[in-house]
Amino acid sequence: MRRAKVSIIGAGNVGATTALWCAAAELGDIVLLDLPQTEGMPKGKALDLAQAGPIVGFDGQLQGTNSYDDTADSDVVVITAGVARKPGMSRDDLLAVNAQIVGSVAEQVRRTSPDAVVIVVSNPLDAMTYRVWEVTGFPPHRVVGQAGVLDAARFRTFLAMELGVSVEDVSAMLLGGHGDTMVPLVSCTSVSGIPIRQLLPADRLEKIIQRTRDGGAEIVGLLKTGSAYYAPAAAAAQMVEAIVRDKKRVLPCAAYCDKEYGVGGLFVGVPVVLGAKGVERIVQLELTTAEQEAFRRSVEAVRNLVETMGRLIGSRQIE
Ligand code: NAI
Ligand code: 2OP
Repeated sequence: MRRAKVSIIGAGNVGATTALWCAAAELGDIVLLDLPQTEGMPKGKALDLAQAGPIVGFDGQLQGTNSYDDTADSDVVVITAGVARKPGMSRDDLLAVNAQIVGSVAEQVRRTSPDAVVIVVSNPLDAMTYRVWEVTGFPPHRVVGQAGVLDAARFRTFLAMELGVSVEDVSAMLLGGHGDTMVPLVSCTSVSGIPIRQLLPADRLEKIIQRTRDGGAEIVGLLKTGSAYYAPAAAAAQMVEAIVRDKKRVLPCAAYCDKEYGVGGLFVGVPVVLGAKGVERIVQLELTTAEQEAFRRSVEAVRNLVETMGRLIGSRQIE
């Protein structure tokens, strides 16, 4: 049986680490691509990674390249190309520069892998996912953004630390954009089925929700040279796995919502069924009034960002 072909565009921190998680889980043959001016960098990283195979015990081809021809006919393309934020920057500060980079990547993906499912990681995530959809012209179910898996993992980690329990037993769901307006859903958060409100007082829970919203900035502040990459890459790899193994995972992802949740034509974080076709279904949840209002604010923030992107680089405006 043919192995899946997974191409990762951008061989920096998130891209190379996504290649590592995907290789270790034997998700397919992996191509790691970066700009021509980086010359041997992606080749060097791919070779280094391949040499971990005999130690860790994984098979599969790993190729580094500067040419999109090597990515041809990928089943999944993960886009991590772009600039990462530094202390004092928000994800939105990356809008103009990354919209250009991601747009040029999307053109190449359209040309070389017209049937791929594309996972977008570059920030600001919800706007970059929109940009990829717009430039590739792919059906919306084949373009999906990674944010919710990471944000939910941060929420789960902080809850497990607070309660002194295994992260494996903490389950959580989030909605909205990958930014300060993200909406961790308390009504869908539990520990082995026990609603979180029965385990934590409201003030502790609120502090953990805020720490989750600030989770990316906390790491930027500590690293000082860039942003998080181990967990973001693990999140992207989990999405790759859901697609190449057709797992039908229910994960929070940035998916195209039109009538769904009344969004009206934007990519925002919602629970989806992720499988071989990409976003196979959006799961509609019943939200409390407070959650609906928080989600509405988050969608508005994403809409503003996409409209600003349109003004900056001439992408299509939202009707
Ligand atoms: P990095 O700077 O380590 O790597 C970015 C790579 O992209 C560099 O190797 C650069 O040469 C490459 N690149 C730039 N333009 C390119 C082009 N046109 N074609 C191909 N490659 C190109 O940055 P890092 O930490 O890997 O982050 C990458 C992006 O992912 C950033 O925008 C960051 O904000 C975002 N990010 C998103 C997360 C999420 O949850 N959605 C989490 C973490 C990072
Ligand atoms: C994060 O949340 C920077 O989006 C990235 O860590």
